[in-house]
Amino acid sequence: MIVIENLRKQYGAFTALDGVSLRVAPGELFAYLGPNGAGKSTTIKILTGLTRLSGGSATLGGADIQTDPIAAKRQCGVVMQHINLDSDLTLVENMDIHGRLFGMSAADRVARTEELLGYVDLYDRKEKLVSTLSGGMKRRLMIARALMHNPSILFLDEPTVGLDAEIRRRIWGLIKKIQNAGTTIFLTTHYIEEAEFLADRVAFLDEGRLRALDTPLALMHRVGAWAFDRLTEDGMKTEYFPDRDSAQAAVTLDAGGHTLRRVNLEDAFLTLTGKTVV
Ligand SMILES: Nc1ncnc2c1ncn2[C@@H]1O[C@H](COP(=O)(O)OP(=O)(O)O)[C@@H](O)[C@H]1O
Ligand SMILES: [Mg+2]
Repeated sequence: MIVIENLRKQYGAFTALDGVSLRVAPGELFAYLGPNGAGKSTTIKILTGLTRLSGGSATLGGADIQTDPIAAKRQCGVVMQHINLDSDLTLVENMDIHGRLFGMSAADRVARTEELLGYVDLYDRKEKLVSTLSGGMKRRLMIARALMHNPSILFLDEPTVGLDAEIRRRIWGLIKKIQNAGTTIFLTTHYIEEAEFLADRVAFLDEGRLRALDTPLALMHRVGAWAFDRLTEDGMKTEYFPDRDSAQAAVTLDAGGHTLRRVNLEDAFLTLTGKTVV
């Protein structure tokens, strides 16, 4: 559904994307994980036609973003990182403007707005001004708006940034629901647990390059199955073990009473990139 080949982006002399290649299958939930400045938003902006690439190529549902940009744009809905709703208009009005931009008929716009505001649980507030909504509600409205023209791919740029834990989990549920309805999802995040919980596959992006790309489980298995942390004056030292028995042996040898835990995606990220996210 998404094919990216050797994608490059220069901002003047600065290289923001340095040859990224990846493929996303129809119906897949793909997480693009990396620290701030890695090039995540730049990738989404290129794919959705908001900025030009400097090299390489990309297709969305078979439509080349350079030679067939209108067809490529019709395939995708996008929720940008920063809130870009019109806060002086109502929820319905925000949805309606978006439908007009995509040339939807008045009847279609009304029907789709009703359906989607129900879908994201904002129907009761449909005639309220956007300025009265909480941060989590605004994010849900942006997601509903992106789905207005029934795109086959939904791009979500850091959809839960700045939201508290409970609201974040609610948005995760909504994202999963959208995937289950058949939409391909390309999600960027710098929250490792977001990628671990949601994604079918994860790409680690760092300084404009892909460091690893696989299922969360396979990435974790590259590191080990069990982890053993020791806090030292030089920071946290973690040892990884392929099975519980060898890990248990290490814990038994350690007098400090430290805990043994399952390897998580953060371990994989730290080990495979030598970096911390956030
Ligand atoms: N319009 C721009 N002009 C110059 N540099 C930019 C521009 N947009 C982004 N950058 C730089 O490109 C790099 C990648 O940015 P971005 O794609 O926004 O990263 P991310 O979304 O992963 O945090 C950053 O170093 C950022 O400062
Ligand atoms: Mg970004």
